[in-house]
Amino acid sequence: MITAICPGSFDPVTNGHVDVISRAARTFDRVVVGVVRDPQHKATLLPIDERVELVRDALSGVPNVEVDVFKELVVDFAHRWDAKVIVKGLRVISDFEYEFQMNQLNRTLDPTIETVYVMASPQVSFVSSSGVKEIAAFGGDIAALVPPAVARRLKELFPDGRGGAPLSAQE
Ligand code: PNS
Repeated sequence: MITAICPGSFDPVTNGHVDVISRAARTFDRVVVGVVRDPQHKATLLPIDERVELVRDALSGVPNVEVDVFKELVVDFAHRWDAKVIVKGLRVISDFEYEFQMNQLNRTLDPTIETVYVMASPQVSFVSSSGVKEIAAFGGDIAALVPPAVARRLKELFPDGRGGAPLSAQE
């Protein structure tokens, strides 16, 4: 039984994440999506409970996917679930540079855990959580980029579509 973890901020989950996670779920026996409680160097739009709920909803049709919150190192989250594999999605060369560094750091922390990269499908290779939030803030249509529940939630948070601050999602 091979368990893989798929860590991220998921602020919010996108169709790009769903693509990578559902393909990983066809490859590994179990995939545990790790939603980081407090990402380093960035504030989140959505509170942790909502990020988790939206990931759960988006992947509810995939039986061997579980979702959990983590606030420790990625390798320690892997230990908690007895996972020997970390799955990451790759879209563009700039992802590679960041992931290359993460790979070396994680491998230094635990050389027994292998990171496996899933290349984004072409139709979602340009989708990012930050891009989606920016489009939503300016009133653009994100229906093709995110699961329906995410599109609805972002519409609620940015009702005027004029690029201003969101209605608070943290309350
Ligand atoms: O979706 P993101 O924001 O790219 O995900 C980032 C995440 C959660 C993978 C990254 O912030 C992370 O790894 N955080 C935990 C700390 C850690 O283990 N860092 C790697 C070794 S320094």
